[in-house]
Amino acid sequence: MKNKISIGLIGLGTVGSGVAEILSRNRDLIKRRLGVPLEITKIAERDLKRPLPPGISREVITTDIKEIVGNPDVDIVVEVIGGFEPAKGFILSAIENGKHVVTANKALLAVSGEELYHAASRRGVDLYFEGSVCGGIPIIKAIREGLSANRIESIYGIVNGTSNFIMTKMTEEGKEFEEALGESQKLGYAEADPTFDIEGIDAAHKLSILVNIAFGTPVDFKRIYTEGISGISPLDISYAKEFNYKVKLLAIAKMRDGSIEARVHPTLIPHNHLIATVDGVFNAVYITGDAVGPTLFYGKGAGALPAGSAVVADIIDVARNILKGSIGRVPPASFKEEERIPLRILSIDEIVSMYYFRFTVQDMPRVLSRISGILGEHKISIASVIQKGRKEGGNVPLVMMTHEAVERDVRSALQEIDRLPVVSEKTMMIRVEEGK
Ligand code: HSE
Repeated sequence: MKNKISIGLIGLGTVGSGVAEILSRNRDLIKRRLGVPLEITKIAERDLKRPLPPGISREVITTDIKEIVGNPDVDIVVEVIGGFEPAKGFILSAIENGKHVVTANKALLAVSGEELYHAASRRGVDLYFEGSVCGGIPIIKAIREGLSANRIESIYGIVNGTSNFIMTKMTEEGKEFEEALGESQKLGYAEADPTFDIEGIDAAHKLSILVNIAFGTPVDFKRIYTEGISGISPLDISYAKEFNYKVKLLAIAKMRDGSIEARVHPTLIPHNHLIATVDGVFNAVYITGDAVGPTLFYGKGAGALPAGSAVVADIIDVARNILKGSIGRVPPASFKEEERIPLRILSIDEIVSMYYFRFTVQDMPRVLSRISGILGEHKISIASVIQKGRKEGGNVPLVMMTHEAVERDVRSALQEIDRLPVVSEKTMMIRVEEGK
């Protein structure tokens, strides 16, 4: 029986410092849960001037990655530097050397997850990644273990705190997008490249990981339709409110006739839906299983301690597996590798949704009838419509909600409508979900 579990930590940035702090702060508590202490043997960090978290001495710091991935004393390698390379190379070397790996690297898993899952299974080591999706919310464990009796039907997630913070500021304070983005950057929520947050890429990375483990299918990240929030204006948010909807950047996945809808985009969701009440930097995942029905997981999706909480929980899980000789008990991608079935991800043209349109039109007779005529020809049925203001001969917004329609039809109809001489600006289109 081992009398301790040894950790090699790669990276002492935000997440790495959170991991070190939790391991030091809750050392005794974790030992009571695990039976033996968790010890950080080495930390790889390029910046030797970086201040050290409490409980970490200078001697454990190294700039030589081999002292982690090739160190016979290290049981678990923890990768928290993020990004593609060198992180991927470090993880693969660690796996080759028989180390178990814990990572929070969402971008890498979204793009190269299959290669890493396969490498870990082949080498017979554990690969855990709770910290990659929604920071402190144990959503991976919930899907892989807590909901393993269920056929997962749908997932609606607010999985990017920065964009949710921006949408909340725009909704509650009527701020313009740029101003709200500036505030989120000042508070340090945004990724190094905020494009990842505001253009939905970070959310798509996380959705790709969730789809993979929820539906038991490899996911080609490029197939996930991704649209960000930079085109949303306070005007659309206030019109949505008049229809009793809120606008949120949602990561959506649904099983439909043996194929999958997987998409990230701004979405109108009923204001009294549980996920619509998730504001600020908080994240939430609303997931429905055939046996359990709807469930909601809520919490902090970013920050040193929430992300550290997820990473340390993974370390404890792997340590338990080591101590009980049960490595591989839970497959990394949740399904047995040979039982995973490649499912088709529908293109955005094939999805079925309801829609919000804001037309900018000349205020004159017969405009509405021409627009509704084109929509009708494309099998799009109107649920409600309001004209905002009255400006004879001038431009006014015409706001419309539709019943369910196929996106291909919607795109063709809008192309035709936007060519009408009475339509003065490109029509704003936002998808609408009831979230069931
Ligand atoms: N930039 C991410 C967010 C951090 O805003 O949610 C956590 O992945």
